[in-house]
Amino acid sequence: MMSDVSRRQMLTTGAIGVAGFAAAIATQTAQANTQNPPEPQASANSNGRFAGKVVLITGATSGIGEATARAFAAEGATVHFCGRRETLGAQVTQSIRDSGGNATYQRADVRVEEDVKSFVDTCVAQYGKIDIAFNNAGIESSPSTVADRSLEDWMDVITTNATGVFLSMKYEIPHMLRQGGGVIVNNTSVSSHVGFATIAPYSASKHAVLSLTKVAALEYADRNIRVNSIAPGAVDTPMLRRALAAWNTDFETVSQDFPIKRIVMPEEIARSVMFLSSDDASCITGMDLDATGGYLTK
Ligand SMILES: NC(=O)c1ccc[n+]([C@@H]2O[C@H](COP(=O)([O-])OP(=O)(O)OC[C@H]3O[C@@H](n4cnc5c(N)ncnc54)[C@H](OP(=O)(O)O)[C@@H]3O)[C@@H](O)[C@H]2O)c1
Repeated sequence: MMSDVSRRQMLTTGAIGVAGFAAAIATQTAQANTQNPPEPQASANSNGRFAGKVVLITGATSGIGEATARAFAAEGATVHFCGRRETLGAQVTQSIRDSGGNATYQRADVRVEEDVKSFVDTCVAQYGKIDIAFNNAGIESSPSTVADRSLEDWMDVITTNATGVFLSMKYEIPHMLRQGGGVIVNNTSVSSHVGFATIAPYSASKHAVLSLTKVAALEYADRNIRVNSIAPGAVDTPMLRRALAAWNTDFETVSQDFPIKRIVMPEEIARSVMFLSSDDASCITGMDLDATGGYLTK
């Protein structure tokens, strides 16, 4: 049986680890999440809740971003998304279109300022506005102590997760100001709130995203731009599977760390992002929504 400490260390990486990509692929089929799987994805509905809305998503070639792109498109939104893997970008686009939705993919690396500017500007040039931005792109940390961590590794995680969100908001907000408002949702983590041993860059980057969210919310609250974030715990995505492989553990073990005793599905995070993006959340800004299944209440 795993000690609390080692489970916690794994979880951190779980919300986030590196290494063992090949091993992770090998374990993917073996780790089916059979606990309360979500309802099947609805087909696109052009009269849906987000009909007429333009949604920008960073990092939607897989995982939470992909599920959120599908969910918004299924509710009538037009989705413009990025990621570095062009083959996956094309596949996700085609699959959304095959379901009757509207999506476009643009290769953009959130670490590169010109890429982010071009991604945001292209969306506005193509669709005229950005109603909702989900700044989701992120990478995990490899497990390592602070003293053993290389500067290069530190910088890559910080640049992707924190600077990427900064750059995204830097270029999204002027368009939202011009159009009279908008909604931003950033993807934080359970690691924005607590520290876990061995994932310093991830934890520091996610604490930074939480701070960025609060500051931007205050700066633009009176100009009709709401800025919130969502904090997932352990979600069934390629990132989590890589982390579980790196820590040689499994869904069952990790799920015991969460009060809901299961791994969350990306479609559930998508629905929470849609809540924050909707008029149902019209008076909510500067909030980080705990989507961990109760972990942060412990
Ligand atoms: N899964 C969890 O348990 C969990 C828990 C807490 C928070 N989160 C957060 O949720 C977000 C999504 O993660 P996920 O679990 O869905 O992992 P994922 O399946 O690995 O997806 C990550 C996405 O980010 C994109 N991305 C990474 N680096 C990028 C870059 N430099 N430029 C543009 N796009 C980039 C990836 O696309 P490309 O590789 O194609 O560039 C991919 O689409 C992350 O911010 C993560 O920290 C996840």
